[in-house]
Amino acid sequence: MSTQLYVTSVEEMQAAKRQATQVHDGLKGVTVGETRLSQVDGEHGKLCYRGIDVGTLAEKSTFEETIYLLWWDALPTAEQLATFSAELAERRALAPDIHRLLQVLPGAAEPMDALRTAVSALTCTVDDDGDRCHEASVKTAMALTAKLPTITTAYYHYLNDEESIPPDPTLGHAANFLYMLHGERPTEMESCAMDVAMLLMADHGFNASTFAARVTSSTLADLYAAITTAIGTLSGPLHGGANRRAMEMLLAIGSADKAEAYLTSALAEGQRIMGFGHRVYRHVADPRSHTLRRMLYKLCEQHQRMDLYELAGAVADLMATKKSLYPNVDFYTAPILYLLRVPLTLFTPVFAISRIPGWTAQVMEQYANNRLLRPLARYVGAEHRAYIPLDRRRA
Ligand code: SDX
Repeated sequence: MSTQLYVTSVEEMQAAKRQATQVHDGLKGVTVGETRLSQVDGEHGKLCYRGIDVGTLAEKSTFEETIYLLWWDALPTAEQLATFSAELAERRALAPDIHRLLQVLPGAAEPMDALRTAVSALTCTVDDDGDRCHEASVKTAMALTAKLPTITTAYYHYLNDEESIPPDPTLGHAANFLYMLHGERPTEMESCAMDVAMLLMADHGFNASTFAARVTSSTLADLYAAITTAIGTLSGPLHGGANRRAMEMLLAIGSADKAEAYLTSALAEGQRIMGFGHRVYRHVADPRSHTLRRMLYKLCEQHQRMDLYELAGAVADLMATKKSLYPNVDFYTAPILYLLRVPLTLFTPVFAISRIPGWTAQVMEQYANNRLLRPLARYVGAEHRAYIPLDRRRA
């Protein structure tokens, strides 16, 4: 073999070895699979569900219709939507055992922990026959989507030594959540705001909690296991936990004129400003934030809280100026939930009850064309280490 050919092949082997062990920190920019659910365009700041722009869906569709679109890749006819919505509503009630579980959880467990525990417990109420076909999975997805709002509100009432409020089958999904929380039927505007917020959180590509659910389901574990994984993953402050912290920040700032001082100090301390930045929308605003900001304006007008709208706007403007960071889905969702009188402790559970259609759709997509998700790791630890017998070890 000539020297030239030999050098090339050694270089190639070394390059191949480097490539094979190249670490993509946080999987940033790494494409690990295909999907037909959400198109998350980080370059142009666009988001589509099954090819339909989410801004259009938020304006013309509903959460129930969007669930149908995600699960069946088609917009339902009026009759299909009515049947689907009724079937969803029929499944909202919880078995007595689940109520008892929520009432005996030790101490004041975080609502996300209670939600995750209850979903795990739901597994015990069904027999898993191992069937992972779309039809079987949709049945489970319906049950989970219908019951998560009931679990969330029931637990919240038990935490406050109150009776839970049974679901109202005559109300839509979003309106029923507010009804079970407050014990009164929401206004048209409140129902619409909740519905839009839930619709915009329904799915979002391979975000951390969705990818975690796909990893779980890639082992052919059941849908309850995958959703338990997703809920646990969503609870982190860098993901679903950001909405609550964004609202706590707005309450701490208090008014628009105080935003500059607060942010300057927080950023100087190296703090992450919750509700800003995104792994995919790096140099553009999260497309969902435009609709959410408009919805916040309407709610603030109705509640005579334009001060809150101005405060949020001031923070967003300052973050753009100071850090070239833009609101993600959590930033404007936070004051919307606040004006809908959702307790701060339920902000992240609201993200979960909104994302469950996407999580389940993504798991169904994984089941339909499954390959075990098992990436590599580059080993950087000790090598060729001798074993030292116990009696010869010294501290
Ligand atoms: C969601 O992925 C999804 O799709 C998620 C989601 C969905 O629908 O499922 O969109 C929902 O989780 C939205 C994100 C909610 N989280 C937050 O709002 C928490 C605050 N944001 C950040 O922690 C951060 O922006 C992330 C976690 C969202 C993204 O982090 P990346 O992509 O890992 O970016 P990075 O941490 O490498 O930051 C790059 C730079 C850093 O500066 P340097 O250290 O290089 O100087 O930007 C800075 C960061 O310090 N930065 C921030 C910041 N976000 C990034 N600085 C201050 N405040 C922030 N919020």
